[in-house]
Amino acid sequence: MQRLMRLRKTQQLRDLCDEVGFTTSHLIQPLFVVEGLEGQTPIPGLTGNQRMDIDSAVRQMGADIENGVRHFILFPVPGTKRRARFDHDFTSRTIAAMRAAYGRAFTLWVDTCLCSYTEHGHCCVFGDDEQIDLPATLAELSRSAVAFARAGADGVSPSDMMDGRTASIRAALDEAGFGTVPVMSYSTKFASGFYGPFRDAAGSAPRFGDRRAYQIDPRNRTDALRSSVRCAEEGADLLMVKPGMTSIDLIAPIRGLTGLAVGAYQVSGEYAGLALLAENGLADFDRALLETWYVLRRAGAQYIITYGARRAASLGVKVAS
Ligand code: PBG
Repeated sequence: MQRLMRLRKTQQLRDLCDEVGFTTSHLIQPLFVVEGLEGQTPIPGLTGNQRMDIDSAVRQMGADIENGVRHFILFPVPGTKRRARFDHDFTSRTIAAMRAAYGRAFTLWVDTCLCSYTEHGHCCVFGDDEQIDLPATLAELSRSAVAFARAGADGVSPSDMMDGRTASIRAALDEAGFGTVPVMSYSTKFASGFYGPFRDAAGSAPRFGDRRAYQIDPRNRTDALRSSVRCAEEGADLLMVKPGMTSIDLIAPIRGLTGLAVGAYQVSGEYAGLALLAENGLADFDRALLETWYVLRRAGAQYIITYGARRAASLGVKVAS
């Protein structure tokens, strides 16, 4: 008989065999900062996460950094929606306030999507014919990336899935003198039913239709691989699969095809699902959360974007120095 239970017997033996060891440095905490809001309000489903004004966000970051969080991804939610020519003043002030408060104690990634900015809630600019205006969209995305870098963002994260965005943003950053600012591309992002709580938090649900004309069909593995390979060719520094748990079969293949590090976004619906199980007495939230991180790491994810990053230290994840 093969006695595999022998090495499962004690905590120390299990720790010896741990192949996914990670620290809080491998986790990225999302932050929603909302123009026109005063204080903060909880986000339905996203236990432990709030929509915040700038002051609240800065305070929350202080507590998070204390708790070992080293990476944040900022989702700015502007107060006014437009069709185009978006204003980045609020986001720039947010980034500057964070930087002024904590210097280089954290790394700030800023999502560059347009869906929180547009009156229709799509991730692009539409032309008069109501078709995606790709040149105008790429120009807006690139302009926002440069504005965020100028305000002090450490990296930018395009999540829009528009053709050519990574190349366009890279070129714009280089031209503006931000050649050392990395691009973390949402490179394999599916048209998913798991983004619900996020869209409420970011005020970014499409007013009509859905995102299937630009996000990847979950049935299409070829597109999922090509999309990441293309981002790599266009100059992305880091790649990402999203949602995390529904993409675990793709992480290692993408890494193999591109030679780039691939992260996983544990999206709002995945996280809220665990919270709902726990609220109904059907799971231990912290235990289940930790298990999902192990699975993503086991699948080869270099980093994990998760709404639970700020809980990690309390779950026993080693705090990064
Ligand atoms: C913006 C964006 C979305 C998410 C991250 N960036 C929503 C979407 O594409 O509709 C989802 C993240 C989550 O659900 O946690 N395009």
